[in-house]
Amino acid sequence: MFARTALRAATRPASTLTQRLAYATAATADPQHFSASAVEAMNPHGLEISRAQRIAEDGFCSAIGNTPLLRLKQLSKETGCNVLGKAEFQNPGGSVKDRAAKFLVQDAEDRGLLKPGGTVVEGTAGNTGIGLAHVCRSKGYRMVIYMPNTQSQGKVDLLRLLGAEVYPVPAVAFENPENYNHQAKRHAEKLDNAIWTNQFDNTANRQAHIETTGPEIWAQTEGKIDAFTCASGTAGTIAGCTRYLKTVSSGRVKCYVADPPGSVIHGYVSSGGKNLGERAGSSITEGIGQGRITDNFAPDIALLDGSLFISDAKSIEMVYRCLDEEGLYLGASSCLNVAAARDLAVQMGPGHTIVTILCDGAYRYADRLFSRKWLESKKLVDAVPAHLHKYIVLE
Ligand SMILES: Cc1ncc(COP(=O)(O)O)c(C=O)c1O
Repeated sequence: MFARTALRAATRPASTLTQRLAYATAATADPQHFSASAVEAMNPHGLEISRAQRIAEDGFCSAIGNTPLLRLKQLSKETGCNVLGKAEFQNPGGSVKDRAAKFLVQDAEDRGLLKPGGTVVEGTAGNTGIGLAHVCRSKGYRMVIYMPNTQSQGKVDLLRLLGAEVYPVPAVAFENPENYNHQAKRHAEKLDNAIWTNQFDNTANRQAHIETTGPEIWAQTEGKIDAFTCASGTAGTIAGCTRYLKTVSSGRVKCYVADPPGSVIHGYVSSGGKNLGERAGSSITEGIGQGRITDNFAPDIALLDGSLFISDAKSIEMVYRCLDEEGLYLGASSCLNVAAARDLAVQMGPGHTIVTILCDGAYRYADRLFSRKWLESKKLVDAVPAHLHKYIVLE
């Protein structure tokens, strides 16, 4: 007979040891009892599970987005603000670029440019290629990727493992017709039923964030967001989120682009759009920083309230702090974003809610970010707080 008292005791949330024990007893007492109320009562996580996504009908593509918005506890405490990070590393392909990949392919389908059995071609060495390779496999398209031959064998192997045809080509400047982006474009033009997704200037990328990331952030904060910041690679994320958040809040939400060394965006935005400048220097961050205003950025760049320059030292410090203080294993672009959110919190003062993007995990970068030799070669060992040197575990 089902133990009713034990069941009633197993109310949610299972916050005490007694409750958790009662739940365990109730759950094992009558495994045949499947009434809705009994199942509900046996759910020690309560509301959180009832909010879980239902079946992702379209497989991989339906599982993209709806990522959690995490409160960064230590930085929030330190600044007196709510510093929140959108956990984009939880997308099924592991990064924020899954959203762009899905929209780029869907847009081509909607325009009738891509039909069953078609081919998707892109010039990319990073997360967009991973996202596109997943999306293409799940929809039955062929995926062709061009990338500079300076990229690690690991990246080439991963894309091939995901079913992509990969062409590493000499790393030459964008102006050179042999640049990997131009080769990707020409490859697509030679085939029937093929598209070059052109993530930098195809605004279906920005649209992904206008239609999904921005609305999710607004809903998750119930409109109580004061500022948003993130870096720009193609600028799809910063442009789309800025466009949505400015529109829905009638301009109230402040939006700031965050920029690494070696990028022209900070100079351009902080000069009020007067000074584009030349690219000079470089950064340890991957996937962000830019030498021009992409078509994804152009319609929205004037909406920005400003720009935050974040040094590599600040980004690296945050890689180690996020790991130690928040339990978050994040790549350098995510940590540049977190450092920018922290600076913005300090600038705005206590009581504000600031949201940023946690683009991907550290998995693909671990051999550098946690290597003493690599940190030394970049003169970044001292950027890691002394008490966190214990995390520099690779040689
Ligand atoms: C790790 C990482 N962070 C950030 C970005 C920038 O996102 P967006 O292209 O939307 O500007 C990218 C883009 O590839 C990326 O790979």
